Amino acid sequence: VSAPAPQASGLAQLEAVLAAGGPRLSRGLSRTERRLEEIGESHGEELGRHAAETLRAGGKRLRPLIVFLCAGQAADNGTVSAAVAVELVHMATLVHDDVLDRAPLRRGRETVYKSAGRAAATVTGDFLFSRAFAELGATGSPEAVRTLSDASSALARGELMQRADAWSASVSSERYISRCTLKTARLFEAACRLGAIFGPAEDGIPGSVECLGAFGEKIGIAFQIFDDVLDVSGPPERTGKHRGTDLLDGTITLPLILARERDPRLRDTDLRTAVTNPAEADALCDRIADTGALTDAREEALTYVQQAKSALDEIDLPARQRRALELVADGVVERYA
Ligand code: IPE
Ligand code: IPE
Ligand code: MG
Ligand code: MG
Repeated sequence: VSAPAPQASGLAQLEAVLAAGGPRLSRGLSRTERRLEEIGESHGEELGRHAAETLRAGGKRLRPLIVFLCAGQAADNGTVSAAVAVELVHMATLVHDDVLDRAPLRRGRETVYKSAGRAAATVTGDFLFSRAFAELGATGSPEAVRTLSDASSALARGELMQRADAWSASVSSERYISRCTLKTARLFEAACRLGAIFGPAEDGIPGSVECLGAFGEKIGIAFQIFDDVLDVSGPPERTGKHRGTDLLDGTITLPLILARERDPRLRDTDLRTAVTNPAEADALCDRIADTGALTDAREEALTYVQQAKSALDEIDLPARQRRALELVADGVVERYA
């Protein structure tokens, strides 16, 4: 594999978000990074190696960022634990997701699945999951643990739904959105809820857990739609993943659903026979793009970004905090990785 270089932050808005979040945000993110490293290093050589490699490969750390932004000025030790726990669940899911999707490349590097095999990847993911809940449990908040465990269960259901729909010629866009909600948006929602729980919560800003949760769910859906656009559009040097991984794997995403509505020949294309290698996947990506489906899918993602911003109308957030959250919402569909 000629692995593309690791991507930069990938999030165009990141600098503006950090500026809006102030020094507390940068400090919180640094503490999160240090804690993640400690966890990677403290559980034996082999597990540590796979976990630490996954960690060091980077990633946007978008979910910790969201935890801190939702916590606002109140960010304390509990918030750091929540940010660490959410990122660990995210990483666990990715390590397992690459087994399920048989994906060779992530964050510009070989996946644990590719470099060390299915067994090592399964165990590494399990390890990361268990550390996530240990971290959050230490805060003594059953509500926080429940929030994250609900999201993890939803994630598993979403991945099962994806397998059930693999190679199907008749996945509706409604069903696709339900899948995105389960496998991606619930964790974004949990990140926001956790921020609210450890931050202003109900006594500080009434309604904040529910409203910030709704905000997270909508940006999560937009994020996954755009991830699926990036899978088709590439380029791999920027996304850190091969183009057409979803197609090779039989995963039916919005770009293909929309392209099938526009190009009748695509309706009869059976991925199992038409896409058997990266070159064929590339060619099909081009055909999907030619129908204009990527533009329309991005438009669809933008409607969720708009809904996310509207959810913030319901609560009385400090202006800076709101501005930062809006920048993140815009950022989920203005990124390269
Ligand atoms: C990838 O998430 C998985 C999806 C939900 C699409 P990210 O794009 O946030 O992954 P990293 O952490 O930045 O690599
Ligand atoms: C997102 O799905 C992964 C999870 C939410 C578990 P994808 O399969 O689209 O994510 P990538 O493209 O591998 O990052
Ligand atoms: Mg995947
Ligand atoms: Mg993807």
